[in-house]
Amino acid sequence: MIEKETRVMRFGETLADIDPLIAGRWSSRAIDPEIPVEREVVFRLLEAARWAPSSFNNQSWRYIVLTQDDSEALEKGRDALVPGNAWATVAPVLFYVLGKKHFAGKSTENWRRLYEAGLSAITMAYQAVREGLVFHQMAGYSIDKVRAHFSVPEEYDIIAAIAVGYPGENPKLTGSKLEMETEKRERLSHEELFSWNGWNIRES
Ligand SMILES: Cc1cc2nc3c(=O)[nH]c(=O)nc-3n(C[C@H](O)[C@H](O)[C@H](O)COP(=O)(O)O)c2cc1C
Repeated sequence: MIEKETRVMRFGETLADIDPLIAGRWSSRAIDPEIPVEREVVFRLLEAARWAPSSFNNQSWRYIVLTQDDSEALEKGRDALVPGNAWATVAPVLFYVLGKKHFAGKSTENWRRLYEAGLSAITMAYQAVREGLVFHQMAGYSIDKVRAHFSVPEEYDIIAAIAVGYPGENPKLTGSKLEMETEKRERLSHEELFSWNGWNIRES
């Protein structure tokens, strides 16, 4: 059980005593450009993602894995990020999360593929906390560039990007994004999120 705040854990004010792994996971951007992520650590992250649940166990997620071991491929991954995510271009590891549109060997569309991709990513995120890694998911990238750079077939949606690295000083982390490193972590209230016994959500 993780009990104290580490560099990759920052606790919000939880309303109940939940597992510190969940309460402390957060999306830092302070990635050290100089420290590579060991191959076996990357493998453990992928293994965590592999064990996520999915409808009919169809495992619709796919990952493009880019590490410092292939700088040319990593550079292509970095090139696809939007300028607002320049802080992530220092990350020694980038993932692009994909979702297979149809069940294997069938013409039936898997409408849950976005959900399933998210499940695999959060499974990986908790493993990353255990590994002492910064793990930051992103929507800010060019889908067209990712598709072109890596020849991704149309059968796969390009759902998210993830920057991974060890915590440290990130020279590309400036301005409002730097301020976010110390901002309070907040969440909507239960009343705004959870509707008990019918529809009674408090609109926010
Ligand atoms: C699907 C998704 C897309 C996101 N896109 C970006 C992004 O493009 N750039 C960025 O800096 N942060 C991005 N974030 C990080 C969120 O801002 C962050 O998860 C949110 O503020 C909650 O903070 P926490 O993860 O520390 O709890 C994204 C997160 C998710 C899950």
